Amino acid sequence: MKQILAFESSCDDTSVALINTNYEVICNLVSTQTDHADFGGVLPELASRLHMQNILHLTQAALDKTGLASEVISAVAVSVNPGLIGSLIVGLAFAKSLAWSWQKPLITVNHMLSHIFANFIETPDIQPPFLALVVSGGHTELVLFEDLTNFEVLGKTLDDAAGETFDKTAKLLGLGYPGGPALDKAASSGNPDFYSFPRALKRREDFNFSYSGLKTAVMEYVSAQDEAFIQENLNDIAASIQQAIIDPLIDKTLRLARLRNVKTILLAGGVAANSALRSQLAQKASARGIRLHHPSLQLCVDNAAMVGAAAITKFLAGNFASLDVNAFSTKGTRSL
Ligand code: KG4
Ligand code: ZN
Repeated sequence: MKQILAFESSCDDTSVALINTNYEVICNLVSTQTDHADFGGVLPELASRLHMQNILHLTQAALDKTGLASEVISAVAVSVNPGLIGSLIVGLAFAKSLAWSWQKPLITVNHMLSHIFANFIETPDIQPPFLALVVSGGHTELVLFEDLTNFEVLGKTLDDAAGETFDKTAKLLGLGYPGGPALDKAASSGNPDFYSFPRALKRREDFNFSYSGLKTAVMEYVSAQDEAFIQENLNDIAASIQQAIIDPLIDKTLRLARLRNVKTILLAGGVAANSALRSQLAQKASARGIRLHHPSLQLCVDNAAMVGAAAITKFLAGNFASLDVNAFSTKGTRSL
């Protein structure tokens, strides 16, 4: 069985994984940079420096853990876009050096595509066509796949991403960083009908999203209340915000699936870890005869196993990158 050594360093997680071409993960090590919490967000320069400190040790640990040597690795895969450019460059430079010194082919991967392919690790037999809802810290996209290499982005956010909205509104409630998991936890015992925050672009026919108005509405709501009221009703307010974030995601995904007669939906990206989004979308999809797939929690957030998973199709097609390839930060799910 051929194995791919994969690297992920697009934001604040350094990760190294080994995966075989049957989507079986041999090892998936992730080092999450906690130093950013003091700044309330990811500090790009700090992220690059921490990737540099981590990547060699993590690779050594992955090889030690699996007992694998370079001879049994058939290719090296790495995320090259989108992401923080300095962070991407660290992973790419490291992957290039290994590919060159070990004389292995290099495979470049789009980070958003790898979030989608994370679904194949636990369910390798997913058959296209399928619709992917990609929701992360920087992206909110609806991507329709005709097959594993042909896809079209049919909807996206016009301003803030869903994950960014979780993070920013959680910060307004004093829930800390990263806000998504904290808001999810607070919301789990709250009432989503406590307050009705706006759902943007609800009546529009297209499949785009907008979250900047919601962010402003939460800011105005929080500043109009006294601190004691916010603390007393924290879980209800969190649940109401969460519902306003996920309602448009669920509605537009199901509407597009019906329009295109797609019976399989893949949830992907960090926000795919959100418990309310997972359960409400699963329930509504199943009522319409649609199968919903989502990765397990540790595969929703950034990790290198998903980079390896997205690299398999390219590996099997012999679609390799030249060693003078560059990283770039342009947003979006795209083929490289
Ligand atoms: O995909 P990811 O790990 O990194 C990017 O590529 O952006 O996504 C990170 C985003 C953050 O905004 C984080 O708050 C959000 O995913 N997130 C969640 C949850 N877990 C992570 N949002 C809502 N609920 C969660 N349980
Ligand atoms: Zn990501």
